[in-house]
Amino acid sequence: MTDSMNEAQQGAIGQPVERVDGPLKVTGRATYAYEHSDGRAPAHGYMLGAAIAKGRIAGIDTTAAEQAPGVLHVMTHRNAPAQAEFGPPVSAEVFTRARPVLASDRIRYYDEPVALVVAETFEAARAAAALIEVRYEKEAGVFDQEAHLDDTYAPEMANAGNETDSVVGNFDEAFAAAEVQVDVTYRTPYEHHNPMEPHATLAIWHGDEVTIHTSAQTLANYQAGLASTLGIPAERVRVISPFIGGGFGTKLIVHADTVLAALAARELKRPVKMALTRQQMFANTGYRAQMIQRVRFGAQADGRLTAIGHDVNSATSNFEEFCEQTAAFTRSLYAAPNRLTRHRLVGVDLNRGEWMRSPGEAPGMLAFECAMDELAERLELDPIALRIRNEPDEDPERGVPFSTRNLVACMEQGAHRFGWERRRATPGQLREGRKLIGYGMAAAIRPNYIGAATAKVEINAKGRVTARLDMTDIGTGTYTILTQVAAETLGVPLSAVKVELGDSRFPLTAGSGGSWGAASSGTALYRACLAIKEQILELASTHAESPLRGMDLAQASFVEGRLEVGERHERLGALMRRIAPQGLEAEGSVASFRDSESYQNYSQHAYGAHFAEVEVDGDTGEIRLRRMLSAIGAGRILNPQTARSQILGGMTWGIGAALMEESHLDPHHGCFINHDLAEYHVPVNADIRDLEVVFLEERDERANPFGSKGLGELGVCGVGAAVANAIYNATGVRVREFPITLDKLL
Ligand code: MOS
Repeated sequence: MTDSMNEAQQGAIGQPVERVDGPLKVTGRATYAYEHSDGRAPAHGYMLGAAIAKGRIAGIDTTAAEQAPGVLHVMTHRNAPAQAEFGPPVSAEVFTRARPVLASDRIRYYDEPVALVVAETFEAARAAAALIEVRYEKEAGVFDQEAHLDDTYAPEMANAGNETDSVVGNFDEAFAAAEVQVDVTYRTPYEHHNPMEPHATLAIWHGDEVTIHTSAQTLANYQAGLASTLGIPAERVRVISPFIGGGFGTKLIVHADTVLAALAARELKRPVKMALTRQQMFANTGYRAQMIQRVRFGAQADGRLTAIGHDVNSATSNFEEFCEQTAAFTRSLYAAPNRLTRHRLVGVDLNRGEWMRSPGEAPGMLAFECAMDELAERLELDPIALRIRNEPDEDPERGVPFSTRNLVACMEQGAHRFGWERRRATPGQLREGRKLIGYGMAAAIRPNYIGAATAKVEINAKGRVTARLDMTDIGTGTYTILTQVAAETLGVPLSAVKVELGDSRFPLTAGSGGSWGAASSGTALYRACLAIKEQILELASTHAESPLRGMDLAQASFVEGRLEVGERHERLGALMRRIAPQGLEAEGSVASFRDSESYQNYSQHAYGAHFAEVEVDGDTGEIRLRRMLSAIGAGRILNPQTARSQILGGMTWGIGAALMEESHLDPHHGCFINHDLAEYHVPVNADIRDLEVVFLEERDERANPFGSKGLGELGVCGVGAAVANAIYNATGVRVREFPITLDKLL
């Protein structure tokens, strides 16, 4: 059996299978973190946050809170149990480092927890928390990135192991000598993840072992992070997270809710539940940093790029460095002999920044693909023609071939389907009454990763299959995709497969992140299923009870719940009852892309092209996105329905980045002031009219056995730039500070 799925094996994979967990979700039977129970009434925790952004606690009076009705415990830095020290501040161990809470009198960011109140109800805990009096010694903090650009420094590393800088040829010379130059600076704001389900944890101790019901993308990170913080072996932490109401990167590592619930449950010898409020999430669970990006292009008059420069300056936490890899994609996107990309940081007194959907590309392509549009206009070239003219034949910085790359096809077919020819090159030419109409496009690129994963699969005497891995489904469709993989590989109906996820006792995976979920967990499960098939064939040809005993089963196939050999076929259930009534089990694994020759020898990315049509009210500046089309080249599509939903969600996210999303940091107090969904705007149904997704299917044989590529985050990349470019095309106003709100057009 080979490790690559051939055409003949096609069955469930590639079908638009509806979500197998859908009925559970829509009938309220899918259990989310805050809804778990072990039968006992849990105590409820509420954390009180600091009212300053930097300084120390000079005094804290918890007397009134302790005497308030229903209060069981009040925890502050004075009585919090010992925890490991925070750190190290810069480390590859970012996912697993100790994150102590209430560990000292230091305040490092606004709303950092200063007390935890545990009470019989959430309301009692919150009411009591309001009675706590804290005296602060306040220190001056740094909150304004722009004002501190003199203190810019080079990070130790950029996220995901990317180099901070890249230099090819001589950018400065080539740029200075270029016939056409574009030198533009774009600004992108702080943004927050805001998954529908806030961070929440129920902690239950059994002796010296703790079970954590939480909302996590990656169980292993939570397990390791909590174990480091509590100073106990990871085996004593069990993490359970079967359903997750969205993650977007903010549920990759433990936060205060998990640590505090575990500490309090141990103190009280009783289950403790904690949920962060939406407002607490803005301060305590990470954000996308504000960035200033300078993009420089040197080009010949015919449009050929001679120099590409992309400099990123990002805000970062003063106590824990995080550098989004915002210019990393620039190294693979377009050809040019002279190249320079750099990431730099300015420290501010905020909580740490975190990975946020499409880290790197989301803010990076917003700036870069707008700058490309500016260059196209200077050159009087169509934006697609400019990009095609600079299409590289190999990865321009790594010098290795692309595994597959169909960016040009995405742009050309997308343009055709969208009706790109209606676009006028000169802005402000298309009008319908008061409305100015504009068209814009942008390219998309996103690395294709594999994370190390193992899966276990069992088949019982009835031929029913159970797959288990510590993978999660953050709403992306993992349960469904993995059900398809097992069903197709074992040739059984979808209804014969049960996939169990979200328990750290199941085999280790890389969880949900980086768009690697389906390929990583899917490959591990696929290989586990192949191993089960080998066992079945071996027993079928040798077992005394087997009707196929002695037959050559090399050509046998598993189809429709049967084992077929020439004219013979045996129902899998009947066969299993004879040859393995106790059932069979097997494991399969896949290694990280870092350990893969295929990734060392090929540049692996998914691609796309986005097209937007906007209307802008000539009097009020109101912007409406009329329609959008995305052409996506992400290898084989495992499930066109869930894949389409991923791209639609990504497009919506990108539209929000272009037009709405922005967290305002108060420069005096260091707090995010629009910290709820009333004031932090994301697109709603009324903002999203007509989105179309077109998949350009191909098979990337070098990526994984399915030939698929990750696409969860691809849908965001470049979308905002397509919208911004359409606004420019409509109005002739180039806004270089996101989001593009109507005031910036007037
Ligand atoms: Mo994603 S930002 O890797 O959860």
